[in-house]
This record gives sequence, structure tokens and C-alpha cells, in this order.
Amino acid sequence: MIIRASNENDITRIFQIEKSVFLESAWFRKMIVNELLKKSDRYTWIIENEKELIGYCMIRFGPGEVHLINMAIAPSFQQKGLGRKLLQYFLNNIPKDSSVFLEVKRGNLPGINLYLDAGFEDIAIREKYYENGEDAIVMHLKIS
Ligand SMILES: CC(C)(COP(=O)(O)OP(=O)(O)OC[C@H]1O[C@@H](n2cnc3c(N)ncnc32)[C@H](O)[C@@H]1OP(=O)(O)O)[C@@H](O)C(=O)NCCC(=O)NCCS
Repeated sequence: MIIRASNENDITRIFQIEKSVFLESAWFRKMIVNELLKKSDRYTWIIENEKELIGYCMIRFGPGEVHLINMAIAPSFQQKGLGRKLLQYFLNNIPKDSSVFLEVKRGNLPGINLYLDAGFEDIAIREKYYENGEDAIVMHLKIS
């Protein structure tokens, strides 16, 4: 497994994974293009094996803050420790003292567990945050 910075050749595969995991709430292709090509405050890491791209983690930098805005592992590669590996890589490669924030659907047990497992804490609920009316849990981790 390799973890590397994304490039524009990754867009089609990222979009394919995005649709396969998030279904009707998947990002549009254009949103992925924007994350990958508008580079100033954005960064996407991908994880791949020798054959294909398997997952991605998208972040945006703010002043003293980092927002994890999207993350997924392709369905056939889930529950093999790759999400944890990619998340840990991201957390190890941002500036020390960063505050990391993310939102996750209240019903997304795999996502919530992954983030709790990495040391994130629940700090707030955003009611009806998502288009389907589901609440978001806001989570935070301070990198020391
Ligand atoms: C969330 C996601 C990225 C986890 O990736 P993964 O590679 O399957 O996760 P890992 O195998 O590294 O598991 C790490 C931890 O996450 C949690 N986890 C992962 N899958 C889980 C599941 N199906 N049910 C409950 N907890 C789960 C567990 O705490 C697990 O630790 P454990 O194996 O010691 O129990 C993956 O399920 C995914 O892509 N889901 C769809 C997209 C999504 O929800 N993204 C996150 C919100 S943006």
C-alpha cells in the first residue's frame, strides 16, 4: 500500500468510489475536481495498491485549523485497517498544534468509530445538517 498526494489522474476513480459509498448523497464530480485542482488551502491524500486507488482523505486548511471534509475507502477494501492507516497518515502529516475538525452523520457507525478510535471527541451536534435531514456530529482532535 502506498499513500501519496492526489493528482488530476485520480479524479475518475475517486468519483467512482464516492458514488459507491455515499450513493444519493455523493459529491458531484465537479466538487471533487475543485478539491483536487484548487490547491491553495486544500489537500487530498490517496491510498492505493499496485493496481488501483482504494481510498481518499480530503482536507482543508484554515488558520490554526484543519477540516477533514471527506474520506472513504472502496467497499471491497473496507474493514482491513486501511481507513485507520490513511487517517493516521493524515494526522501525522499536518502541523503540530493543529485543531482538526470534522462532521459525520449521526448514524454512520463505521465513521464515528474510526474517528473515536483515532482520539477524536464529540463536541457538538448540528441538527438536520445533511440534505436527508440527518444530524451531524461535530468531532475535534488537537494534535500535540
Ligand atoms: C469509515 C471508513 C472510511 C472506515 O474505513 P475502513 O478501512 O473500513 O476502516 P478500518 O478497517 O481501518 O477500521 C478502523 C476502525 O473503524 C471502525 N470501523 C470500521 N468499519 C466499521 C464497521 N463496519 N462498523 C463499526 N466500526 C467500524 C472500527 O473502530 C475500526 O477499528 P477495529 O477494526 O479495531 O474495530 C469506511 O467504512 C468508509 O469508507 N465508509 C463510507 C464513507 C464514510 O462513511 N466516510 C466517513 C465519513 S466522511
